[in-house]
Amino acid sequence: MLCGMLGSLAAFYHDDLNLDDPEQRRMAAIRLLAKVPTIAAACYRHSIGWPGRYPRNNLNYVNRFLHMMFEVPSEPLELNPVAAKALDLLFILHADHEQNASTSTVRLVGSTGANPYACVAAGVAALWGPAHGGANEAVLKMLEEIGRPEDVASAIDRAKDKNSGFRLMGFGHRVYKNYDPRAAIIREMTHKVLAELGVNDPMLEVAMRLEEAALKDEYFVSRKLYPNVDFYSGLIYKALNIPTEMFTVMFAIARTAGWVAHWLEQQIDPEAKIGRPRQIYTGAAARDYVALDKR
Ligand SMILES: CC(C)(COP(=O)(O)OP(=O)(O)OC[C@H]1O[C@@H](n2cnc3c(N)ncnc32)[C@H](O)[C@@H]1OP(=O)(O)O)[C@@H](O)C(=O)NCCC(=O)NCCS
Repeated sequence: MLCGMLGSLAAFYHDDLNLDDPEQRRMAAIRLLAKVPTIAAACYRHSIGWPGRYPRNNLNYVNRFLHMMFEVPSEPLELNPVAAKALDLLFILHADHEQNASTSTVRLVGSTGANPYACVAAGVAALWGPAHGGANEAVLKMLEEIGRPEDVASAIDRAKDKNSGFRLMGFGHRVYKNYDPRAAIIREMTHKVLAELGVNDPMLEVAMRLEEAALKDEYFVSRKLYPNVDFYSGLIYKALNIPTEMFTVMFAIARTAGWVAHWLEQQIDPEAKIGRPRQIYTGAAARDYVALDKR
């Protein structure tokens, strides 16, 4: 829904967009930062049959988003400052992360001179598959599946067994081969949020035991498999009542800042060229034509 709506914004703001005008580029960037959380919250409310909520100008970015997500007509919404701080932190930590699949996609589409709304819609499309941005959802599923702290040891054994097909979700990173610095910050915030909101989540206990056991285990230590940012972020989202299906959307809201910054940077780069990845053909040098009825 978010991807489709963003694509349609390209039509909504079509006429007045001159990409050579810095003021218009700035305006497009601001619109994207403002519209993505509004559209995301509208998608959520639509999905559960609630009427949409307009953004409140007197609230800051995260509180406005929480308001659009959870406000109901029958009573005022109590906005918890710790919840807002945690969400702010998650948004900041996820804002940008060099050339991941979605950011590269935004830049590749942007390199053609495409409308910025279409570029960001393409970034959202790159998040569609489970391999990018879906890990925190997978972490929660895994923790639920493990279920009890006393079953952590057998989960560790299964993760080490190559034939089991089971990996510890939220552990390891293609780029960070040491502790993900973002994970240390989120770990602390996870504890604060759960203490403040009074969420007594057995999954947190499973998560803590799992982390402790893996950090001591030779298999994980020798392969430098440390908890990554996704290990904790799902627990915070869960405590904030963000439904699991929205986790990747939350990632898209945060990453919009990075995508937009990349897009803006690209527009003023005098050496920018259209993206053109090369390929090396490794197929057959020659293949004879065989008529259809002879195949
Ligand atoms: C993120 C990930 C894809 C990085 O992969 P990578 O850097 O290419 O690492 P590799 O897949 O080459 O794995 C290196 C070794 O560690 C093992 N390994 C890597 N991640 C593991 C995990 N989460 N659980 C168990 N074993 C793991 C591999 O089996 C491999 O073992 P081997 O050397 O004996 O063959 C990988 O660690 C993973 O699948 N993690 C779980 C999913 C996840 O959290 N993804 C979110 C990333 S933001």
